[in-house]
Amino acid sequence: MKILVTGGTGFIGSHTVVELIEAGHEPIIVDNLSNSSDKVLDDIQTITGKKPVFYKADIRDKAALEKIFKENAVDAVIHFAGLKAVGESVQIPLEYYHNNITGTLILCDVMRKAGCKTIVFSSSATVYGMNNAVPFKEDMPTSCTNPYGWTKLMLEQILTDLCVSDPEWSVVLLRYFNPIGAHESGLIGENPSGIPNNLFPYIARVAAGILPCLSVFGNDYDTPDGTGVRDYIHVVDLAQGHLKALDYAVANKGAEAINLGTSRGTSVLELVTAFEKASGVKVNYKIAPRRPGDIASCYADTEKAEKLLGWSAKYGIEDMCRHGWAYMNKKNI
Ligand code: NAD
Ligand code: UD1
Repeated sequence: MKILVTGGTGFIGSHTVVELIEAGHEPIIVDNLSNSSDKVLDDIQTITGKKPVFYKADIRDKAALEKIFKENAVDAVIHFAGLKAVGESVQIPLEYYHNNITGTLILCDVMRKAGCKTIVFSSSATVYGMNNAVPFKEDMPTSCTNPYGWTKLMLEQILTDLCVSDPEWSVVLLRYFNPIGAHESGLIGENPSGIPNNLFPYIARVAAGILPCLSVFGNDYDTPDGTGVRDYIHVVDLAQGHLKALDYAVANKGAEAINLGTSRGTSVLELVTAFEKASGVKVNYKIAPRRPGDIASCYADTEKAEKLLGWSAKYGIEDMCRHGWAYMNKKNI
């Protein structure tokens, strides 16, 4: 199938493009390169032997999207394009709402006019909010605490409304837990600019000697060792989940929210230990105050993904650390 991948040069998008090519699909990437580089296209070619078609464009540029749909008979869309930094979204909410919401509205409008009504959307476990008990299940109440999260929740609603209005639409809302790691080739991975907000790239930079010390945000949570627990998922497992979601969307109309996680919780200190084991490098850390807005534990109930998609994650925490570390070394980060 011809699959338009918005945000396809980004972290999760690039890994999904590799899986699409390897499964015999034809991905077409659209990305404005606001948080990625087109150099990743060469790495995708090295891994798969094929260079995907690439359009440098913003999804809010309607004419550019119309041109892409005119030049390509797109069967379905996997929609990653979006801004994703929680703290930044609090500082510049209008940019977040405009980029994520307006961008998706324009994308769906162009899709509708082109007769392409199948979309897999990147949502987030952040929609489970602060008040649910783990493991998080798709039918739990949703809520948000920051503009980034609201864009995900609003877009879930908008895409669901679209399915109610027109029964030809197929929408899969994938709620990702914490994607980390890298492709095992070490050629593609995550390389955030500046000081990372998220735990895994922070640990990796301390191990590499780029940052001096990890601050562990709280050790007095109600968790086995007192530090925050999350459901880390290998980005390649996540990418493969998208192919299953695509198959599901092609075969089923309507909207469905599905968790992509492992169902296993890992604490901050467990991740530090796993990284040290995988890399052979000591990771300096100190205990710091809790980060405002954090919850103690977050992990997925994965029954729905297993049942509807026939998918479950394969990689363990040490694989994620080993592959993430290999990427850092290969790319001299
Ligand atoms: P990323 O920043 O690496 O990739 C997003 C890509 O979208 C980037 O290449 C960026 O240049 C592009 N982009 C942004 N706005 C655009 C626009 N208006 N037009 C065209 N391209 C645009 O992020 P990622 O980690 O790969 O995340 C992909 C998606 O998954 C995002 O929607 C994100 O919110 C969601 N998500 C990510 C995580 C995570 O931890 N990485 C967790 C839950 C959900
Ligand atoms: C973050 C986002 C969330 C998003 C998720 C997946 C925030 C507030 N939330 O959440 O919206 O859905 O990523 O991308 O950014 N930690 C440290 N030291 C650090 C960094 C993190 O101890 O320097 C701890 C955190 O307190 C947490 C765990 O590590 O317990 C994971 O943090 P992080 O990687 O930021 O992910 P989330 O908190 O799940």
